[in-house]
Amino acid sequence: MPARPVLRIGHPLLLQVAQAVAEFNTPELDALVADMLDTMTAVDGAGLAATQIGVLQRVVIFGSKNNPRYPDRPPVELTVLVNPEIQPLGNETGSDWEGCLSVPDMRGWVPRYQRIIYRGFDPQGQPVEREVEGFHARVVQHEVDHLDGILYPQRIEDMTKFGFEKELFKESPEDSLKGTPEVESSC
Ligand code: NI
Repeated sequence: MPARPVLRIGHPLLLQVAQAVAEFNTPELDALVADMLDTMTAVDGAGLAATQIGVLQRVVIFGSKNNPRYPDRPPVELTVLVNPEIQPLGNETGSDWEGCLSVPDMRGWVPRYQRIIYRGFDPQGQPVEREVEGFHARVVQHEVDHLDGILYPQRIEDMTKFGFEKELFKESPEDSLKGTPEVESSC
């Protein structure tokens, strides 16, 4: 299965609301998921929504490895989630730098719910439900936003904290290492 081109901000499909997957365990769904996994691997991303390869179906994938630069950030198990739903747990939000494969080379300071429950299905139709927080919760909120036609710049409240990664973090590289996502955090 080939990696596919990732659509970039400005492409009209990124603003569309994706449709729920109607049937599980089909060759079509398996092929879509395989293409998404190959695409995310090829660009070393932390997540990908089907919308980003131009398929308006409610399918997201995400996962991250342990990163020695972020010892407090536990790795996120590679997950395929079909027809995802998010339920915030409480009103607590937190902000962090986000990147997106559809907004290359840029970063923004984005508020998200700190703790959520997410529910959905794997490609075979088995239910998935997890209670998560922090980075894991952030990635899932970012991906589900893609399915609703929302890109992270639309979530930024302070537009002075949006720009090219190399411009934002060049002043004090020491400080900027803290809380600065690596390229692999784009999703
Ligand atoms: Ni993204």
